[in-house]
Amino acid sequence: MGKTIVVTGGAGFIGSNFVYYMLDKHPDYKIVCVDCLTYAGNLSTLKTALENPNFRFEKLNICDRAGVEKLFKEVKPDIVVNFAAESHVDRSIKTPGIFVDTNIKGTQTLMDLCRELEIPRFHQVSTDEVYGDLPLDRPDLFFTESTPIHASSPYSASKAGADLLVLAYHRTYQLPVTISRCSNNYGPYHFPEKLIPLMIINALHDQPLPVYGDGLNVRDWLYVEDHCKAIDLIIHDDRLGEVYNVGGHNEMANLDIVKLILKKLGKSEDLITFVADRKGHDRRYAIDPTKIKQQLGWFPETKFADGIEKTIDWYLSHEAWWQEIISGDYQNYYAKMYGGK
Ligand code: NAD
Ligand code: DAU
Repeated sequence: MGKTIVVTGGAGFIGSNFVYYMLDKHPDYKIVCVDCLTYAGNLSTLKTALENPNFRFEKLNICDRAGVEKLFKEVKPDIVVNFAAESHVDRSIKTPGIFVDTNIKGTQTLMDLCRELEIPRFHQVSTDEVYGDLPLDRPDLFFTESTPIHASSPYSASKAGADLLVLAYHRTYQLPVTISRCSNNYGPYHFPEKLIPLMIINALHDQPLPVYGDGLNVRDWLYVEDHCKAIDLIIHDDRLGEVYNVGGHNEMANLDIVKLILKKLGKSEDLITFVADRKGHDRRYAIDPTKIKQQLGWFPETKFADGIEKTIDWYLSHEAWWQEIISGDYQNYYAKMYGGK
């Protein structure tokens, strides 16, 4: 029988890709999106989903206990997948409070309701950033699920706090939970403040491409659809209290990504501008995804060469989507964030 899945943060980058993935993969499921539409949430992203009778959107803050309780009582979810978060490291350095509110207190509110209403499954979408970083000169080291939590930024500390609460709710109350800790995603609907879309859009406008520090920081890039596939596998498996690392075995230095984007768009490397480094900037992330491969048969299907091509094409063919974003309040953010660098 078709399940009902509540997807929080479904108007953001990964959540919206997950909504589309699930509507397509499970046509008998009902998908209910809970999102309060912060600057990062965009209803136009869900335009096609809103035409699907199996999809419903509720503008709600995950910290709004009464509102979420009412909704959960009405839709009786089989699974809650929590994507809702403040997700940008640079913003967390400027305004940490909201990260604690949404990422920790919001997660706790959802879990309290799952517990009280006996919702059969809660899945927390977490990040590899909870492990801190790895040195550049030790390519033999990777994050495994037993790597100690060692967060660097207010963002990653808030995600780590949430992870600890999720595991504590499992141990103390036997809440049926799982956690996925994924590396950097890229693909359609990625908000333009993040590295890859920011560089594509600046290059298209012949604007400087701001590279932090020496540009040698390494991230492990995964095409967003592969992340959605991993979560779909995890939430349909019976093992509870498990943490799964999800990563693409695709480490790349920021500078190499930026040069690749410039080459694909036929733009000059003269646009690259080195700016002041991010405070506390993590040097390298690298995921060991052995556990999810062995237990659930997951592997990253999209090669970076194909994924980045598809992503650039998507930005070229969806200019209206990002123009609407960058022409609004985003301008003030950009001026404040990069003005002094
Ligand atoms: P995003 O910033 O693009 O989207 C976040 C969404 O959550 C937005 O739609 C926003 O409106 C909504 N939201 C924020 N606060 C809310 C609240 N209090 N109540 C309801 N909705 C709220 O983020 P993303 O990049 O799609 O990340 C989604 C999740 O995946 C996050 O939990 C993030 O920590 C995690 N993650 C992201 C990446 C990545 O590379 N982007 C990698 C690993 C894990
Ligand atoms: O690893 C998973 C994480 O990936 C997620 O948990 C976060 O939600 C997501 O935002 C992302 O975090 P990062 O900090 O790695 O992503 P971001 O796109 O902000 O930056 C990627 C790298 O590029 C990082 O080393 C900083 C650098 N950078 C970023 C921006 C925005 C620049 O050099 N210039 C920039 O203008």
